[in-house]
Amino acid sequence: MKLSLQEAKNKLIENGFLDIEIDKDINLFEEIEKLKKEKNAIILGHYYQIPAIQDVSDFVGDSLGLAQKAAETDAEIIMFAGVHFMAETAKMLNPGKKVLLPDLNAGCSLANSAPAPIFKSFKAQYPDHIVVSYVNSSAELKTMTDICCTSSNAVHVINSVPKDKGIIFAPDRNLGAYLMKKTGRDMILWHGVCQVHEMFSWEKISQAMQDHPGAEFIAHPECEPHVLEIADFIGSTSQLLNHVKTSDVEEFIVATEPGILYQMQKSAPDKKLYSAPPTTTCACNECPFMKMNTLEKLYIALKYELPEVVLEQNIIEEGRVCIDRMLEISKKAGL
Ligand code: 13P
Ligand code: SF4
Repeated sequence: MKLSLQEAKNKLIENGFLDIEIDKDINLFEEIEKLKKEKNAIILGHYYQIPAIQDVSDFVGDSLGLAQKAAETDAEIIMFAGVHFMAETAKMLNPGKKVLLPDLNAGCSLANSAPAPIFKSFKAQYPDHIVVSYVNSSAELKTMTDICCTSSNAVHVINSVPKDKGIIFAPDRNLGAYLMKKTGRDMILWHGVCQVHEMFSWEKISQAMQDHPGAEFIAHPECEPHVLEIADFIGSTSQLLNHVKTSDVEEFIVATEPGILYQMQKSAPDKKLYSAPPTTTCACNECPFMKMNTLEKLYIALKYELPEVVLEQNIIEEGRVCIDRMLEISKKAGL
């Protein structure tokens, strides 16, 4: 079905994405490639996206890698195959460019757990503290943040804060607790969590470790402290991927969103990978927000250049400062 731009915009208001039927016979990969060239667009995809989206992406990475790519691209359109806060970060770094997200409903439980007005009152209780926020936060929260971080660079960011300064860390209490242990810094933590990384079962993982005695257990720092306690290696998605690639170990139990297993298996085809089990029998370790993006939605979004991520100018200007600081610290650390 072909729609006028106005019709497409009206449809978008109803759903948050363009719910348009597409011809079943078209080759989506070829059509997306054509559109990318025609429109000078780049697709940035997170490791938690479905394999087809990772394959069509120009760059697949973790939150830091994607922000770095967004900061350096000269493409006119950025199609962000990830979630809303990532696309917002790309927009803040590229205010003059069009940033698209296949489905505007692709949010994040962690970002939602720190509503900006409530955080403002919380922050007011600690006027002398530096605010370090995980990139998994809203654009508004970033305007109240001194330095942003991702799980790849968080230790460097915390260590960059003078020792005599207090720190508020938001919104992930699990990453915050891990960083307190790792850096020896006492921090005031906001009590947000990622609904995906909270789901891993200590009991089932311990059983899996017994079932696969040669396997290493590797985990993302958004997991709960008692799960991290038994991990052989802790790191961001790209650090986990790199560890699987370079380690001499042949088997891994992986506690993060299973989308990453696609790149792990690609770069280490002979290694055995097991997704760490969640507490229930549902597929709760899959991020429902990341999985809202489909190849069809991505194709339609690129074709109609909708939905676009739009931010107010003052949010862009104030929110960007903490992202620039994070990129500067990462560069100095060689990340
Ligand atoms: P990283 O990709 O930075 O490791 O973050 C994981 C995550 O939960 C992204 O939403
Ligand atoms: Fe947010 Fe967790 Fe999904 Fe990442 S995996 S986007 S932190 S809900």
